[in-house]
Amino acid sequence: MLLPDKKEEASRDKRKYKTIDYTIDKKLIDKYKGKTFYLKTYGCQMNERDSETLVAMLKQLGFEEVEDYKKADFLLLNTCSIRENAHNKAFGMLGRFKHLKETKPDIVIGLCGCMAQETGVCEELLKNYKFVNLVFGTHNLDKLPELVDKAFENDERQIEVFSREQDLVEELPVIRSNKYKAYVNIIYGCDKFCTYCIVPYTRGRERSRKKEDILKEVDSLVKDGYKEITILGQNVNAYGKDLYDDYFMGELLEDIAKTKIPRIRFMTSHPWDFTDKMIDVIAKYDNIMPSVHLPVQSGSNKILKLMGRRYTKESYLELFNKIKNKIPGVTISTDIIVGFPGEEEEDFQETIDLVNYCKYDNAFTFIYSEREGTPACRLKEVIPMEVREDRLQRLNEVVNKYFLENNNKLLGKVLPVLVEGISDKKNIYYGYSDTNKLVNFTSDKELNFGDIVDVEITEVHTWSIDGRVK
Ligand code: SAH
Ligand code: SF4
Ligand code: F3S
Repeated sequence: MLLPDKKEEASRDKRKYKTIDYTIDKKLIDKYKGKTFYLKTYGCQMNERDSETLVAMLKQLGFEEVEDYKKADFLLLNTCSIRENAHNKAFGMLGRFKHLKETKPDIVIGLCGCMAQETGVCEELLKNYKFVNLVFGTHNLDKLPELVDKAFENDERQIEVFSREQDLVEELPVIRSNKYKAYVNIIYGCDKFCTYCIVPYTRGRERSRKKEDILKEVDSLVKDGYKEITILGQNVNAYGKDLYDDYFMGELLEDIAKTKIPRIRFMTSHPWDFTDKMIDVIAKYDNIMPSVHLPVQSGSNKILKLMGRRYTKESYLELFNKIKNKIPGVTISTDIIVGFPGEEEEDFQETIDLVNYCKYDNAFTFIYSEREGTPACRLKEVIPMEVREDRLQRLNEVVNKYFLENNNKLLGKVLPVLVEGISDKKNIYYGYSDTNKLVNFTSDKELNFGDIVDVEITEVHTWSIDGRVK
């Protein structure tokens, strides 16, 4: 049994890691033919991308996927720790699995992802969730085949969570869930240690993939007819710093743009390392979408400092304006946390003022959630939950107003939209514009999914816009 250790998870060194290729023991291939699995994924795009690899590995073992957990032989939760409600959802699901196991004792239940990296969670699983057979973390995803095999062969519980990142594994199998849009990891982990955030502990040190491996993956996506990629990392702007002296996110973006993949997006860019080179490259290449996610978290310098965000309101706004001025037609979205310890009404008002200035096109707003073991958890000036909830509601009213106001400006305009699907009821297509707006639209002609079409905007709402193909 190998349990996680927060202290080790928090440690960082300059140790070089190796890049190795994924291998699977030949004896395991198709060993589980006839068996089924159910996988549920919580959390961010990184987890979604990991799950595409989990699915592929399970299929190598011979398992088939089912949508109903009651029909599965192996049930796996790929979990998220970012806020308490993510925890609660996963534990709720485990409760349902427990009932199932009472009638089907041979099923194997597993938990992986970020929650597995938390000592408290593992202790809880050991004590009160004895029916969970298999736990593994984010650093040994590639070991899934062996671990699953041990869990099926062995009555003992398999708990193998590494606190430190292992080798960086390439050539992992993947079965992508979308035929036109794909995620491409460029950097794993996070070294920013924002004081409220669990991710640096659950995902380890920042480790960039080699540029050749990334470009090879993008090339093969182009060949397979993919139309859009989203470049992934907890902080994509840190790309290359751990690996190269002169090749960073700006350079990588430019090389990816040259592959001729029709659409490129990236998530998430921390304002702190957003370089001028990146802005110039985004402005220069038509296939890099003019839509930037730039999380601000708070508009108060006092709170930003307590959060350890490494920028001030002023430097954030300087960057914001530079992006707006240099990238034609760019839309900017953000993340905001309310109710961080010590946030007084005037600090909250500064966040509202900042939103009134930035008039974001989209914003993900959150109530601050204490994460065990993070520095913010030790701050004394805890904000009562009613105050946090009230602030979230007030903030949402303001952000929503700007979504609609920005959308109103699009009436009569023509936007390029990637056709992603059709809603069965109304015969209406849907997809996203270059600026990342959800568009529902009609067409006189039948359209192919994966095409990029010009849509004239005829009506707007807060979270979506309507139109018809020109
Ligand atoms: N790496 C990204 C954020 C990833 S987490 C970045 O730094 O921009 C996504 C969002 O979850 C964060 O931007 C933050 O707004 C929110 N978040 C993270 N930890 C949180 C916590 N403890 N409570 C509430 N929201 C949190
Ligand atoms: Fe968390 Fe900050 Fe890292 Fe984002 S940059 S993942 S908020 S520690
Ligand atoms: Fe959640 Fe882990 Fe992503 S904590 S947000 S799944 S990196």
